[in-house]
Amino acid sequence: MRILNVGVLVSGNGTNLQSIIDKSETGELPAHVVVVISNKSDAYALQRAKNHSIPSYVVRPRDFVDQVSYEQKMIDILNTHKVELVVLAGFMKILSSHFVQAFRGRIINIHPSLIPSFCGKDFYGIKVHQAVIDYGVKVTGATVHFVDENVDAGPIIIQRTVEVKDSDTAETIALKVHQIEHEILSEAITLFAQGRLKIVGRRVLVEE
Ligand code: GRF
Repeated sequence: MRILNVGVLVSGNGTNLQSIIDKSETGELPAHVVVVISNKSDAYALQRAKNHSIPSYVVRPRDFVDQVSYEQKMIDILNTHKVELVVLAGFMKILSSHFVQAFRGRIINIHPSLIPSFCGKDFYGIKVHQAVIDYGVKVTGATVHFVDENVDAGPIIIQRTVEVKDSDTAETIALKVHQIEHEILSEAITLFAQGRLKIVGRRVLVEE
């Protein structure tokens, strides 16, 4: 099978990045992480890239005159490394249409809730899971979706649920959700690599 060149954008710990790297190294994932970009110089994800000799870059918005030149820098890096799919794996910056247009239909994001619940610009990190507990929903989960111009709004590729038990806290939910994130992110990348995802309006159809 063809091996897909993947570029990963990160801001933090990078357990999703690690899971993609590990599965690509064992051959479980038909993908190769060719570059990692972080908007934060202290993101542990950068160390994970280094541990596997993957080229990594810190590209910070404040080092550029405006959003377009900031994003253009990332686009140039991704193109230099011949990236075919951009994976946002805990990337905490909102991307404008300049970036989205450069990789239209080739950017995916992982979000730790069942979109359209508990998503949008105020829902990140542990806040998502605290909101889940506070609202009292009985299931939550994770979503992998294509990225468009709006936050957490593009067509949904895969969702998976976890149960919210009475004994759960935001922290225990976070742990459970993280685990399924790692599963569905690699499933989505595999489907993309196999050319089986077809976007029809808001829907993503999976071809047999
Ligand atoms: C994940 O929960 C992901 O859904 C969200 O940011 C978090 C990143 O986690 N977008 P990690 O850095 O991959 O561990």
